[in-house]
Amino acid sequence: MSDLDHYCSVCLLYQMLLQILSLLVLLIATRILWRRWKYDLHKVPSPPGLPFFGQTFDFVSGQPSYQFSQWIGRCLRDLGYPKLMKAGGMGQYALFVTDLNFIKDVTTSKTEPFPKMTDIAESMNAMLAYTGGPKPLLVNATATPYVKAVRKVYATAFQTANLKLALPKVNGVLQNMISIIEAQREKGPVDIQPLFVKMTLDAIGVVAFDTTLGGLDGSREIYRLLLDTGYIVRERLRNLFKKLYIRYFPNTKEAQRQTALIDGLSAEWEKLTTEILERDDPPNGEEPMWHALRSLRHPETNELISRSTLRSEVATIALAGMESTGHQLAWLLGLLACHPDVVDKLLEELSQHGLYGPNAKEVAFEDLTELPYLTAIIKEGMRIGYVLHAAIGLKTPRDMSIFGYRIPKGTFLVCPGTRALHSEEMWGDPHAFRPERWLSGEDMSHKYSIGFAVGPRDCIGQKLAMLEMRLAIVRLITEYHFTLKGTWQELLESANDGLVIEARDGVWLNITPRVASS
Ligand code: HEM
Repeated sequence: MSDLDHYCSVCLLYQMLLQILSLLVLLIATRILWRRWKYDLHKVPSPPGLPFFGQTFDFVSGQPSYQFSQWIGRCLRDLGYPKLMKAGGMGQYALFVTDLNFIKDVTTSKTEPFPKMTDIAESMNAMLAYTGGPKPLLVNATATPYVKAVRKVYATAFQTANLKLALPKVNGVLQNMISIIEAQREKGPVDIQPLFVKMTLDAIGVVAFDTTLGGLDGSREIYRLLLDTGYIVRERLRNLFKKLYIRYFPNTKEAQRQTALIDGLSAEWEKLTTEILERDDPPNGEEPMWHALRSLRHPETNELISRSTLRSEVATIALAGMESTGHQLAWLLGLLACHPDVVDKLLEELSQHGLYGPNAKEVAFEDLTELPYLTAIIKEGMRIGYVLHAAIGLKTPRDMSIFGYRIPKGTFLVCPGTRALHSEEMWGDPHAFRPERWLSGEDMSHKYSIGFAVGPRDCIGQKLAMLEMRLAIVRLITEYHFTLKGTWQELLESANDGLVIEARDGVWLNITPRVASS
């Protein structure tokens, strides 16, 4: 081939490439224009961003990459709390919904409930040792008969009669935590955050599986592995390049470290599943959660769920119950440690019920539900120091009009966590920790307070979570006097997005016995 021929064929190749590229640009531009004509996404209020890229770069390295809720809160405030806000970029957008009536309507609709948006949750599949079959409850988008059957297992396990039986078990776990506090508190401030997370893991263990999950005593590796794999999932979600790097270079040291951790966690779930399968049946009339799960039949085939499905559901229970409740408790204690007036009022309520003072009795299940100020503290704490980035994630089931905007099928609808909705119009003094607002007699049903979500896919563990939070607060506040190392504002600003919202540097409390201090 002469030089001229060679030159011509290279030119031809370039020309072809250029034509393909132009065609691609044309296609993308046509699609963008067509979508602009067909839908109104571009009209939905949105925080400042770049053309086409939107807020993509913020998500990669700005505040939303580590303080999603706070960032959404700031954007909503700057836009005057619209009912719908759009954020995202490069064709991938989420709509943030703040209208409670709309949220209730679409989650509770009998005719067309919106499916759950599970795309992000599915990144947790590795933590749940999911290898196929029906998707575990947490990451299952639609309310299939299987989902309903699994929810029924939870609902039965956490019904009042069973929670009454569970109370002494949870109390025992709390006692273990108090022993650790006792051993640490004289040496200086104690970081209550990991203690609460370990405690809630153990509480799930004794309530659901009649065994310890080794949180506080370290007898199993589950806590450490859940924490480490949680960091991996978080990193993969934040950084697409890292995710691709690990996928396409599985022999690198980092990829192998991650695989070892994920395999280690799967092995723990496998061990627990084997223990559950090999146990004798419980005595007649008793139906612990582990037994109900292992006896669960798939409603559509009437066959017992497979070993791997059982394993993923076992993992789901532990994962769903651990971080959420543990970190929520840590934020709550942080708040209480900075609000002695609230603690005093709570102690007054507790002494009226005979739960605090010289002749205090042991806490009974019934006591816990008859303490309105305590319940108000938890509601208010979940408003100010809420633990999840989003309370509900949904997808539009078809092309539809929402608040007058034409929205395409499959659009992500995110109901932000309550940290993001501190509007003065709704709360008056949104940043004040004022449990009294829940007891004023005002109708609160229209306030944005969906900490446990709403509708048929709401938090199925909320009764257990409330039991744990109520009991832990009563036991700790009556036994100890807490002060926060640092200020509440500093703690709030240290909020950092993990699987849930945690305090980056921990929640450090000075702890002294209450009797001695008073
Ligand atoms: C303070 C503690 C907790 C908070 C704030 C919380 C909050 C939530 C929220 C907002 C949802 C709905 C998520 C969505 O729709 O995307 C949810 C779902 C769920 N929660 Fe909780 N939760 C807590 C404790 C627990 C506990 C102790 C368990 C028990 C093991 C649990 C088990 C679950 C499960 C299995 C689901 C999925 C339900 C379904 O999709 O049908 N949660 N939780």
